[in-house]
Amino acid sequence: MDTIYIKAEDIKGIQKGGEILQKGGLVAFPTETVYGLGANGLDETAVKEIYVAKGRPSDNPLILHITSMEDAEKIAYLNDNAIKMAGVFWPGPLTMVLPKKDIVPKVVTGGLSTVAIRMPSNDTARNLISCAGVPVAAPSANTSGKPSPTDADAVKQDLDGKIHMIIDGGQCHIGIESTVLDLSGEVPMILRPGEITLDMIKKVLPTCEMEPGLCDSEKTSKVPKCPGMKYKHYSPDAQVIVFEESGKGKITEYIEKYKDKKVAVYCKNGETYPAENVFYWGENAHHMARKLFSDLRNFDKSGFEIVLCVCPEMSQMGQSVRNRLYKSAGYNIVK
Ligand code: TXA
Ligand code: MG
Repeated sequence: MDTIYIKAEDIKGIQKGGEILQKGGLVAFPTETVYGLGANGLDETAVKEIYVAKGRPSDNPLILHITSMEDAEKIAYLNDNAIKMAGVFWPGPLTMVLPKKDIVPKVVTGGLSTVAIRMPSNDTARNLISCAGVPVAAPSANTSGKPSPTDADAVKQDLDGKIHMIIDGGQCHIGIESTVLDLSGEVPMILRPGEITLDMIKKVLPTCEMEPGLCDSEKTSKVPKCPGMKYKHYSPDAQVIVFEESGKGKITEYIEKYKDKKVAVYCKNGETYPAENVFYWGENAHHMARKLFSDLRNFDKSGFEIVLCVCPEMSQMGQSVRNRLYKSAGYNIVK
């Protein structure tokens, strides 16, 4: 199919995007986190097309995107914790897992009795969802397994000709996906860390916990804690090797070891390494989050075979970024 390209400022185009969604088509759109690949979340056939376009296993459940609490109530049973959290963090990069209502098709939740919902803050996303007039099911708009797209070019690279429309809203300002918080059990549990951190959530829900091993290389394991986590994630073609602070001294060794390959060193501003190709992710974890996925894609475009990647500081955002880094590297971590 021919994919239509529009700019986020094109109001008529966004209305057309809303109509495409209503009719069962697929539209990629910007959010504050990463680009999403949207379909009408109440239309089983439309949602199935998402899995086809992405090549995504269909037991990996999707997030429904909404713009109001009324919409949220139509699809999920909101408890007190959810209402408190929404009051503080919505609209924004927070996804809440709650008991689902019958209106949500099984294909959205991978057969689970819960549904993930998020109210994005990005204006283009909000306009599109409003024009569609339905909850919009949207995973990240990448081929399954690849780094999530943080600009329209990355979406084009993966999905051109496979979806009906791509809305170009420039660069996403957060760069990693929303925090996923499970509020369906007794203890609020972070299933995927993001820009909204455990400490921020604890101010609202003091008993909140984080699944162990999500971003700690001591406890990390490949055992899936939430559906979809068992699959390969954020993997560029290059082999990524992650260096913790304690392992940084070994980077020179690795540069030597891979001297016959095309190696990129990816580190904090100002660091120096004896390598031809050194790239910088910025000063802190927030900077790194914003650039990480697009830089990984660019390393592939430039034909790098090995990426030696230095971790950001051990802040909570630093942990959220680590969660993505560890997966990109297939847990190849030097400590
Ligand atoms: O920032 C984001 O969340 C982006 C933008 C587009 O909104 N979306 C995104 O979707 O990252 P996706 O499909 O790539 O990630 C959805 C995550 C997966 O880890 C999935 O396992 C989890 O949410 N999830 C969805 N429904 C769930 C459920 N009922 N229970 C537990 N986890 C769920
Ligand atoms: Mg994804």
